[in-house]
Amino acid sequence: MWGMIATWRMALEGIEKGCNLLKEGGNAGDAIETAVREVEDFPFYKSVGYGGLPNEEMEVELDAAFMDGDTLDIGAVAAIKDFANPVSIARRLSKEPVNNLLVGEGAEKFAHKEGFERKNMLTDRAMIHYKNRVKEMTQTELKPYSGHDTVGMVCLDTAGKMTAATSTSGLFMKKKGRVGDSPVSGSGFYVDSKAGGATATGLGEDVMKGCVSYEIVRLMKEGIHPQEACERAVAMFDQELKERRGKAGDMSLVAMNNKGEWGVATNIEGFSFAVATENEAPMVYLTKNVNGKCIHEPASQEWMENYMKTRTAPLKEL
Ligand code: GLY
Repeated sequence: MWGMIATWRMALEGIEKGCNLLKEGGNAGDAIETAVREVEDFPFYKSVGYGGLPNEEMEVELDAAFMDGDTLDIGAVAAIKDFANPVSIARRLSKEPVNNLLVGEGAEKFAHKEGFERKNMLTDRAMIHYKNRVKEMTQTELKPYSGHDTVGMVCLDTAGKMTAATSTSGLFMKKKGRVGDSPVSGSGFYVDSKAGGATATGLGEDVMKGCVSYEIVRLMKEGIHPQEACERAVAMFDQELKERRGKAGDMSLVAMNNKGEWGVATNIEGFSFAVATENEAPMVYLTKNVNGKCIHEPASQEWMENYMKTRTAPLKEL
């Protein structure tokens, strides 16, 4: 059995590419890296890679992680600038015996030494978003921070190897050096080929208050189906945050076990995800949380068309 699951509609084309590798017996490391790179390279996604929205100093700082579920090797970069594919740098770091999580300048030095592609990740479109937001903030009471649509994936190959990976530009207008949950093991991602893997998207500051990805894997290790594991872990943590803090930030998790069974849970409306397995063609679903039970419905053709139209619509400076 092989399979891949990922947060958000934006992962679909990446999943398709990754699955083509898996179908031919490709390994879960190559498939997930290929899939995440596809999302990182697409300039119209505002929260991952090239075209990601900048921090308050108008710099695009990126976070990414890679985990190998066989060896439990982890590699991650945080607040890295001017490199095209943070997920590939994270994967490369996962092979180091130490120094597996590098931040800022240190991550850039490593990437430069290893010959990774340099790229100015700030697009003209992202710059317009930035300028418009600055203008809106002076005119209204608008919150500066928004947008935290991390791409997070879990992958299973025919040899039973599992991987997890994440990539994000984090919060729009974040402080320079701010790091979210995506490169943090246990919170943003976790995978163990003996059970399964999970990845998160949402408000990093809240996701990091727990280890929800790890908790889902732990539940799967007990034999619990990924859907129930996701629902239990998200509901419990959402409730915990609300009890202690009065509110819980956005949080959506996707998971797959080592049989290719999958699950998704969210505490928001309109969460989309993409999934494919040996038995299921790549498909985008929308999830609704109805009293703690998450109901997944295939995205309609109209929704899919509208999605791309709005992502690529011309953007004018205010
Ligand atoms: N979940 C991504 C972030 O908050 O940076």
